[in-house]
This record gives sequence, structure tokens and C-alpha cells, in this order.
Amino acid sequence: MKSNTEKFGKTPHQPSLWTRADALKVHADDPTTTQPLVSANFPVLSNEVFIWDTMPLRDMDGNITSVDGWSVIFTLTADRHPNDPQYIDENGNYDITRDWNDRHGRAKMYYWFSRTGKDWELGGRVMAEGVSPTVREWAGTPILLNEQGEVDLYYTAVTPGATIVKVRGRVVTTEHGVSMVGFEKVKPLFEADGKMYQTEAQNPFWGFRDPWPFRDPNDGKLYMLFEGNVAGERGSHKVGKAEIGDVPPGYEDVGNSRFQTACVGIAVARDEDGDDWEMLPPLLTAVGVNDQTERPHFVFQDGKYYLFTISHTFTYADGVTGPDGVYGFVADSLFGPYVPLNGSGLVLGNPSSQPFQTYSHCVMPNGLVTSFIDSVPTDESGTQTRIGGTEAPTVEIRIKGQQTFVVAEYDYGYIPPMLDVTLK
Ligand code: FRU
Repeated sequence: MKSNTEKFGKTPHQPSLWTRADALKVHADDPTTTQPLVSANFPVLSNEVFIWDTMPLRDMDGNITSVDGWSVIFTLTADRHPNDPQYIDENGNYDITRDWNDRHGRAKMYYWFSRTGKDWELGGRVMAEGVSPTVREWAGTPILLNEQGEVDLYYTAVTPGATIVKVRGRVVTTEHGVSMVGFEKVKPLFEADGKMYQTEAQNPFWGFRDPWPFRDPNDGKLYMLFEGNVAGERGSHKVGKAEIGDVPPGYEDVGNSRFQTACVGIAVARDEDGDDWEMLPPLLTAVGVNDQTERPHFVFQDGKYYLFTISHTFTYADGVTGPDGVYGFVADSLFGPYVPLNGSGLVLGNPSSQPFQTYSHCVMPNGLVTSFIDSVPTDESGTQTRIGGTEAPTVEIRIKGQQTFVVAEYDYGYIPPMLDVTLK
């Protein structure tokens, strides 16, 4: 097993570590870092489709952008199958839970539009069937490039493999709605290299996905965050002193935590258009702590880099735990060092009474946090649940130095624009 210095070299940076000691500070149900209870009476966006990961249209600086007064979001989307014999159980009832759990295998990119930043109207699929090179269209980021309405959609083409790709199209508006045109040629950008980022051959449970391109407010260059795992054969990673951190007596045993190897990856563009990318060592690793740091994204505030990423209870390593939700880290410069927000990293987690109520949080630069409803208990014992597949209430957090605080809650799927672009 190579040490971090051998694996990632001395330049340009060493990854920051989310340590086991940091994670021991994670506490569910702290009201300042817990999402308010979602009622089982929630409205659904559509009875035809499930939606989950929500990707608001934005510019390269991260600002949520409307066009000609229309807000636009992209969502991972899958048909609901209430009448498909495949999803009817032995009592003749629709097994929505199984249908929902199978959704990842048929995820497609759809878009929605709205005049009010909520009450979204379904626009349709972004790419026609057959355009995307693989079965699954997984998460990414739609970027409004200019006043001509050109949009670069970065996303993950999955099964077979996992490739970070982009496809260019255009957003067109009328008085009555929004359409997406073009999106016909998908360009592969890069895949895991096996040296810095784990490949499928090294670990069949590898993660390599969720591109989030951005312009660094300080050096002006184009970069991209993504989710990865640290390279190396599954089981070969070492959870050493650095990964453990400063733990109290009795907390030195790391169990089987070598199997949890999440990282936040970063790449830099060699060109202005973002067609040619070079992967760099991860910004942050969670070896021995957690196996997934998904949908990484930034908020640039007060001259600092606030790095957010979503994670699950089930992906934590032996001896550490935390709620499903969004975690955060802060640094004074792009390449760190990053320190966990609130000491632990936890920014907004599900309450322990409703551990799966929401997921896939995206923190926007205005402090609003959007997510989707996964499942909400409908009885006291929590054995009966209602599946969501729709937008959760938006939550507002205040970010202050190295701390964050939940301060408000808004309507379901409320994603107001931060600026409006008039198309030419
Ligand atoms: C987060 C996520 C993403 C992935 C997608 C797959 O909810 O796991 O990392 O792109 O969902 O459905």
C-alpha cells in the first residue's frame, strides 16, 4: 500500500483528511444541523415519474440562473410503474418501494421550468433516447454559458463503466414555457485512472461520478469537482494514524474500515471550453470514515471555499456513524487544507426519527438547500412509509466562519433564481 505522499506526489497539493476523530463528533438531532421533519402529507411533482437528484441551472460561478424569467431545474428521473405486472405484489398491490429502489438502473435526465421558482412544470427529457452512450444518465450540472442560451450539461454516463461526459444544447423560451434543443452529441471527458481514483477493476463498488464544474474566483481557471474513491485494490487501503486522527483512549480500533475510501476529486481544464481535462489528486479523502462523498459542490463566501458533499449512514465505516445528509468543509484556498464545518462535517442531516426522509442536498450560494423526499414514516413505529420521489421542502442555512445553522424552511422544491439572463 502506498502512502498518500507516494500516491498523490508532493505537488500540487496533499488531500485534506476527514478523519475518524472528526466523524466521532457527528451527532444526529442537533437542531442546528438537522432538517425539520418532513410531513408524510407531502405533494408530489408528478404521478408519472419519480425524481431525485435536482440540478438547478446555474452559471460557471455557481449563481442559480433563470432565463427570460423562467427558472429551470434538471432532475434524475425514472418512470413510475403502478400498472406494470413486474411491480405488482402477490396481493395485487403496486410495490412502489421496489419500483423506487430500482430507479438508479433507468435514470434519465429530465428538465422542468417555472415562473415562481417552485410548482415545476415538466419539460421532458433533455436527450432523446439513444443519444447518451450508456444505459444510465447519472448526476451532473447544467451550466448556462451565455446570452445565446447555450447550455453545457456535464453528467455521468454509467453502465457500462462510469464516464464523466458533457453534451451541449440550448435553452429556448417562449411566453408559455421552456424547451431544450440540441443535446445531440455526447463528449466523453475522463474516467477513473486507477492511480489516484479507484477503477471498477479495483473495486466493483467504486464511485466515479457527479461532475460539478466551476470557475475559481481567485485564479479564474476552470475546474471540476467529482465523486471518487481513492485508488487501490478493494481492501488494500491502510487506516493509519493520520486517517484515525486524535481519538480518545479506546477508539483506536478501526475494524474493517479499510473498505471505506471515499474522496472528493478535482480536475483542471486545459482549455477555455472545458473539453480537455486533467485529473488532480483529490481535495479531500475519507479513508476509514465513509465510502461515499457524493455530488461535491462549492459555495464561495467571505473569501472562503465551502465544500459540500452528500453522504449516507450505510456508507460509514465500522465505529463511526452519522445521518444521511449534507456534510461540509472549509478552506482559505482552493487546494486546502480543509477543516470540517461544525467540527464534525455535518451540516444538515435527517432527524433520527425519519432517517430516510430526504437526500441529495445541494447547498446554493444564497444559503438555500434543496433535496428530494426519499421515504417518510406514516406510523409511529416507522414500519409503514410513504415513498417520495419528489422535491423536499427547501431549508435555509446560515454559514458563519467554520459553523452553520439551520434558520428557515420554505415550500417544496423552492429554488429561486439569483440572477436572470435575458436571451438575445
Ligand atoms: C445521489 C446519487 C448520485 C448518482 C445518482 C444515481 O443521490 O447516488 O451520486 O449520480 O444518485 O442515481
